[in-house]
Amino acid sequence: MADITTSAADRKEKEYFTDVPQTSPGFFLKGSHQYDWGLKNRLSKVFNPKDGRTVMLAFDHGYFQGPTTGLERVDQTILPLEPYADCLMLTRGIQRSIVPASTQKAIALRASGGTSMVSPMEEWEGEFEGKKVRFGRPGFEPLSNESTALSIEEAIRLNASILAVQVFIGSAYERQTLKNLTDLVDGASRYGIGVMGVVAVGRAMARNSQYFRLATRIMAELGANVVKCYYTEEGFESITSCCPVPIVIAGGKKLPELEALQMCYHAIQQGANGVDMGRNIFQSDAPISMMKAVRGVVHENLTPEQGFQMYQDLKADAAQA
Ligand code: 5RP
Repeated sequence: MADITTSAADRKEKEYFTDVPQTSPGFFLKGSHQYDWGLKNRLSKVFNPKDGRTVMLAFDHGYFQGPTTGLERVDQTILPLEPYADCLMLTRGIQRSIVPASTQKAIALRASGGTSMVSPMEEWEGEFEGKKVRFGRPGFEPLSNESTALSIEEAIRLNASILAVQVFIGSAYERQTLKNLTDLVDGASRYGIGVMGVVAVGRAMARNSQYFRLATRIMAELGANVVKCYYTEEGFESITSCCPVPIVIAGGKKLPELEALQMCYHAIQQGANGVDMGRNIFQSDAPISMMKAVRGVVHENLTPEQGFQMYQDLKADAAQA
């Protein structure tokens, strides 16, 4: 019987060994020691070999949302942040049109898409408090109806280190989006390019550690070299412990800066290999200061309070300059 449906009484207590790090003999990155040279070299551009961590700057939101707040003019708002990122997560359209080809940063290229935030929702008619009402059909997630949106030849032309693919586990399009992942893994691994599976959480899905353990592990088992998911207040170290490849966290919606730094800190201390953050950086009042503070927490083990102090000091200096 599937683990998720087995009653607690019937099953052996789970053991995540959260205090025993998984080894990767001869290579710095979790689960990556048996890859070929090219893939190891590309992953060494995404993750800093000194600490095995990364600060990825995510600004691919336009692929389904159009000009997201803070990304209306990527040349004005994102290019100034480029020097402080380890890796740029973006679409091929923005890469070709805006990002200088002279960049030394690793590229995480968006490789799935095909739907938008205004994709038509299948409607369902029902009754609520005696009145006829129309809802989106339960369990029907039009955004999850994605395809792969990039060929491997194009990824090579754009010198991608890693491809990002959205996977909607538990949605109506679960199978299709898992097939997108495995198709990209098959194609990318031929050329030593990595694949990052991105856990996409539909409205019907719970954002808890049970769900993220399931989703991240399925993606790793199906060949993702890196997995991106959200941080959970409860049980996050069990997610990183039972996922055999590196996990990076998404930032999610904009939080006050101290809270965002706390989230980064706890994720890193509980086994994440970095952050792949967008809105909490580019929607900040002082994006460069925030980016530097996030780097401090990720790469220099600053506490959230130290990171926040750094953010405030840099912001004040910038205001005076
Ligand atoms: C879309 C993505 C985004 O790139 C990323 O998650 C958005 O970053 P943030 O949530 O930090 O704004 O993967 O699902």
